[in-house]
Amino acid sequence: MKRTNYIIANWKMNGTEKSVSLVKSIQKHILKKRKNSAKIVICPPFTALGGLIQKSKKIIKFGAQDVHHEHAGAFTGSISALMLNQLGVKFVIIGHSERRQYQKESIKELSKKINSALSKNLKVIFCIGETLDEIKKRSSILKKQLTSLPSKFTGNNIIIAYEPVWAIGTGKTPTIKEINSIHKSIRRMISNKIGKEASKVSILYGGSVNQNNSEDILNLSDVDGALVGGASLKSKDFCKIIDSSN
Ligand code: PGA
Repeated sequence: MKRTNYIIANWKMNGTEKSVSLVKSIQKHILKKRKNSAKIVICPPFTALGGLIQKSKKIIKFGAQDVHHEHAGAFTGSISALMLNQLGVKFVIIGHSERRQYQKESIKELSKKINSALSKNLKVIFCIGETLDEIKKRSSILKKQLTSLPSKFTGNNIIIAYEPVWAIGTGKTPTIKEINSIHKSIRRMISNKIGKEASKVSILYGGSVNQNNSEDILNLSDVDGALVGGASLKSKDFCKIIDSSN
């Protein structure tokens, strides 16, 4: 089953509209390569989204790092799916472990965010992953996190990013073998929900992906791309990761 491969940059709370030079150099690299099979998505902070979309070519898509579950109203400081859609944003990260941890986003809250994003045609990059303490019960943790997804979804509107929390920003990753088998088990979990369509859902790996380990990770049969934090902030490193995805 051919699935779409994605290399997604999560800039977190880094970057401004001035980061257009970073976007342009990635863009130049992709255009030079021509045969790029992976889709490239950059998720900068909200404040930089509009400017970067305007100044970039269509070859790069943009995503937000969060969204509120309502479309409008008295929610000071929040941004809705309607607003993102009108800005030309195509993707949104939902359920990143940093938001689950610092903003205490619950399974129910994430479910509302996913529904809101889907209703405005945003593709959802839904993050799941266990903490170090939860490794032994990983399977039940992931299963529980996946309950935020709606009862029906497709490979066209949901991307799953498996990000072990203990691997994010630490330089540690599960072994290559482990990554592939966890991805296989995640696909089995979603097939209980959506049946055969599960074979079309891209499952990305995230957590300390860098220019040195990307080739091994991205060539795994059940890994359909990467969600990259730290290494996405340097053009040279990110472009090397893009190159290893083919
Ligand atoms: P990292 O972050 O690549 O810096 O580990 C990944 C993420 O948090 O999405």
